[in-house]
Amino acid sequence: MKIDVLTLFPEMFAPVTSSILGRAAEKNIINIRLTDIRDFSNDKHNKADDYPFGGGGGMVMMADPIFGALESVDAYNKKIIYMSPRGRIMDQQKISELSELDELVILCGHYEGVDQRVLDYWNIEEVSIGDYVLTGGELPAMVLIDSVARLLPDVLGNADSALDESIYSGLLEHPQYTKPRRYRGLDVPEVLVSGNHKLINLWKFREALLLTKERRPDMFEEYVKNPERFSKEEAEIVEEISKIKP
Ligand code: ADE
Repeated sequence: MKIDVLTLFPEMFAPVTSSILGRAAEKNIINIRLTDIRDFSNDKHNKADDYPFGGGGGMVMMADPIFGALESVDAYNKKIIYMSPRGRIMDQQKISELSELDELVILCGHYEGVDQRVLDYWNIEEVSIGDYVLTGGELPAMVLIDSVARLLPDVLGNADSALDESIYSGLLEHPQYTKPRRYRGLDVPEVLVSGNHKLINLWKFREALLLTKERRPDMFEEYVKNPERFSKEEAEIVEEISKIKP
């Protein structure tokens, strides 16, 4: 997957070019190209922002340098996303859709945002990472890139681990344990070391349901809507947990 990032602060993207994503880049699974919007300023001081028409505080990123940057990455027929607290909040479904694309362009804003004509002309989708405001779109872009990249084949060491996960299956993830079996008087649940995989899977299912019901009742209600997908044992667990009062 090719991802173009248009930003005033390309140096902020060091974290996504190292570690897991760095390895994905080496294996050519993901190709992240950083473009400095300032390089497309026509101003002798490389100015890329100006005062807003109509007044108000802050500065607005000018259309022309952004147009230049978008043209330089040949963004014409590509999906373009603008990281913005005004956008639809992204979730795993959105990330999964984006991970199907071969090419993606991400525009990072700063200050009071970008000239509206950029968004209108280029048919850009605004995407938010949550109901809070950051100083710029760089960290949100990295959140998006990281969550998209881990869904690409062969990015995670264990190819199954992304699919196995809770948000995917509609439940929060069950608790996890590793060695030692006893730590400071706390034991790993017996069933996990029983070797009985059927019982282990039912335990994981039960714990995931319990956690989801407690923390995300909205997700729990959605999950139990389609009872036909449950085995007999699973259906019994669902019934038992559904009866528990919040
Ligand atoms: N830029 C500033 N805040 C943001 C947010 N919450 N999501 C996406 N981009 C942003």
